[in-house]
Amino acid sequence: MNVELYERIWMWAAGGLLLLFLGAIFLTAGLQAIQPPSHIETVDPTALATHPEFGTPAVKTRADGSVVVSVVAQMFSFSPDPIEVPANRPVTFRLTSADVIHGFEVVGTNANAMAIPGYVSQFTVTFNEPGEYLIGCNEYCGTMHHNMVGKLIVKKESP
Ligand code: CUA
Repeated sequence: MNVELYERIWMWAAGGLLLLFLGAIFLTAGLQAIQPPSHIETVDPTALATHPEFGTPAVKTRADGSVVVSVVAQMFSFSPDPIEVPANRPVTFRLTSADVIHGFEVVGTNANAMAIPGYVSQFTVTFNEPGEYLIGCNEYCGTMHHNMVGKLIVKKESP
């Protein structure tokens, strides 16, 4: 069978693109732990105020030293704010929203998830670098979306 040179070039180019994009998915999933969320937990978004955990969203330390941060996103702020966590310890974020879909991205890290009303988004990260981080909402949520920011303070632990 005779395949034209140009057609042959485009076939290889298209095949190469497929491999490139597949490779990008596997590389980021494997090396940078970028994965789709797998935690499914529901919560009544209309009753957050009286919820045992999300009624008073806060940073708590478990018996094993790991840290849990419960966060409620609501037009146009995050609660608690600022969020203070220790460096070099696993921090589990548990996010939900009281109204619409918001984003929760700790800028410059791979802590990034959606806060969805009715659901709890959960992920665990360890911050090695002490400092102040900006938390941004990266889902368009209304007229003041661009002002929806929070602050994460990663504190160096005293030895
Ligand atoms: Cu909240 Cu955009």
